[in-house]
Amino acid sequence: MGGYLLGYDVGSSSIKATLLSIETGTTVASATSPDRELEIQAPRPGWAEQDPEVWWKHLEQATAQIVSTGVSLAEVEAVGISYQMHGLVCVDRSGKVLRPAIIWCDSRAVEIGDKAFADLGPERCLKKLLNSPGNFTASKLAWVRENEPEIFEKIDRILLPGDYIAYRLTGRLNTTPSGLSEGILWNFPEGGLAVFLLEHYGIPEELIAPVVASFAAQGQVTAEAAGKLGLKQGIPVSYRGGDQPNNALSLNVLNPGEVAATAGTSGVVYGVGGDALYDSASRVNTFVHINHSEDAPRYGTLLCVNGTGILNSWLKHNLMTLQGTGASYDQMNDLASSAPVGSDGLVVLPYGNGAERTLENRNIGASIQGLDLNRHGRAHLLRAAQEGIVFALRYGLEIMEGMGLTTDTVRAGAANMFLSPLFAEAFATISGAAVELYNTDGSQGAARGAGIGAGIYSLESAFEGLDTVSVIEPNPDLEGPYRDAYQRWLGELRRALGA
Ligand code: XUL
Repeated sequence: MGGYLLGYDVGSSSIKATLLSIETGTTVASATSPDRELEIQAPRPGWAEQDPEVWWKHLEQATAQIVSTGVSLAEVEAVGISYQMHGLVCVDRSGKVLRPAIIWCDSRAVEIGDKAFADLGPERCLKKLLNSPGNFTASKLAWVRENEPEIFEKIDRILLPGDYIAYRLTGRLNTTPSGLSEGILWNFPEGGLAVFLLEHYGIPEELIAPVVASFAAQGQVTAEAAGKLGLKQGIPVSYRGGDQPNNALSLNVLNPGEVAATAGTSGVVYGVGGDALYDSASRVNTFVHINHSEDAPRYGTLLCVNGTGILNSWLKHNLMTLQGTGASYDQMNDLASSAPVGSDGLVVLPYGNGAERTLENRNIGASIQGLDLNRHGRAHLLRAAQEGIVFALRYGLEIMEGMGLTTDTVRAGAANMFLSPLFAEAFATISGAAVELYNTDGSQGAARGAGIGAGIYSLESAFEGLDTVSVIEPNPDLEGPYRDAYQRWLGELRRALGA
């Protein structure tokens, strides 16, 4: 069978595209735009916004890069979309974007979500939503209603970032159950829209777009989008998933007991289960997984550390670069490895990217603790940053373990911070899990998802071409030193939290 599938991953640091051969299930071409991380605007402390038009522009550029390799996109049979989760895009009746997107790591709605949790009753929220309304899409929309009434009035539909990209491709405004759950707009026991929360927030139901399945023909590529991108008009957009459920799909993590991880801008561990679990303090969150059905329920329990790759990227651009030239991530990883486990007592708390869910939505910022000017150098700092991220993930894993989730094996794409041998080994050792790295990423997963949604692949046949690149086992020799370093890190975290 000839032909291709095209997958897009609309992240907060870049837009990636992958062209997959239907026949072999392997990547024919891939591209990323821009080259360096996209900007996140923070007009006020704790805010984080991006312009959806910028996502679209880079989607066009990534697509053009693929075309420049000489392949013909006219042979693409279906398109799939992965996207940064929990964002809010507001459009008016003509489909025009009314304000910049309020993205996942924007903390402005924390208080609104906390208040709704208390007013509606934690028990009711946890039973129906599996979460506090928290700092997610519904609460962000409530913020717009309270603070920007003139914009709120003009909203025809609200969309998640991936819903918006699907709209630009197909002209159709719709969303998915998995998407509604990530916005805390899904009533789990009823299997429908969380109307009681909308009513509480004073949000008309009509603002929520119609629901389509994650794997389905959700719309057809319009003549205009086809012309701009070089695609055939009328092919389906047949898959959509938030970047974390999509990462799980990319790694064939679809069934209870299977666990996926990422370490991109944010770091996530995502465990699939058949039971609707929750943490009573909403420090980790359960969402509808993309292959969920009434007969075979599938939930994804997600632990997120906002300040993961973005911390490493901050160090790269602010500390390792002078006058435009600087170290590569590989060089930084080598330098970090030259410092000992535990970074000679230097501790980094990596929480510099908005309210952290594992800390009950507190925003304590990133910090460096115990810097000894006579002992520590750049290598220690780079290592302590990587260790700090790993320890923050370990801290979240303890919450997941308390909910009964186990992590014997964790699958991840050989990408981002998992490309750092130090990071991967520290993560495996401190979590006691074997880390399997695969030759995939989110845009490849989205292409496979498109194949499933278009009926070209089954859930089984979609993963031909997915291969293990390496397996990192916990290192028993480093277990003790990492355990000690984790305890020191935990002490600093408790101090920062005033606990
Ligand atoms: C997951 C989360 C982040 C974003 C990053 O819950 O908030 O991983 O999806 O794009």
